[in-house]
Amino acid sequence: SVFVITIDGPSGSGKGTLAGKLARHYGYHFLDSGALYRLLGLAAYQADLLQEPLNLPALEHLAASLDIQFIVQDNQGTQILLNGQDVTDQIRTEEVGSMASKVAVIPSLREALFKRQRDFARAPGLVADGRDMGTVVFPDAPAKIYLTASAEARAGRRVKQLQDMGVDAKIDAILADLQTRDKRDMERTVAPLKPAHDALVIDSSVLTIDQVLKTLIDYIDS
Ligand code: CDP
Repeated sequence: SVFVITIDGPSGSGKGTLAGKLARHYGYHFLDSGALYRLLGLAAYQADLLQEPLNLPALEHLAASLDIQFIVQDNQGTQILLNGQDVTDQIRTEEVGSMASKVAVIPSLREALFKRQRDFARAPGLVADGRDMGTVVFPDAPAKIYLTASAEARAGRRVKQLQDMGVDAKIDAILADLQTRDKRDMERTVAPLKPAHDALVIDSSVLTIDQVLKTLIDYIDS
């Protein structure tokens, strides 16, 4: 059987980093579901399909036929290809994050990504990172985590992450973007961002990554 650990939460809560560490700790596969939404958002933008009124059939066709590859590398993470082109860095920008959250409100597009996400669950196990991993995609997962933090802490982390990638980021603009995206994620009618009823909820505002990691491992092993 496949052991699935879900980690959901808002942007900048540290879930991506922790999900990666947990996957390495347990030797499990890793699903970055946000990357799938980012890829769909970017592909829709490139095909000029984000203009209102939305052309739903064209978007649905795009979602069903998305040509994406995740190439896991030995030490430096995962290379992500869209139509054979390396978009690893490009999909991390706030612009693409915003495109992702726009396509993410559309039920039929979420549906189109559902099976692709389920297919990541392979032995011995999976760590699934996203917004609805514990509530919708893997509702039967035996270990569910919901990671959150104050908006200010999350914006601060996002700025640092962007700066580490060589992107000049201003905290006020990042905080505003993040709050817009959180609102869209939490208020949408399909798969809104919220903790699963059986999730362990952790606020990481004043905790280090290592402190959270230890808490999560203790919880998963218990
Ligand atoms: O990196 P960050 O946490 O900011 O975002 P992400 O996990 O890459 O997700 C980008 C956007 O995709 C989110 O703001 C959501 O709108 C959407 N998303 C979703 O709806 N469901 C998921 N399981 C993952 C992401």
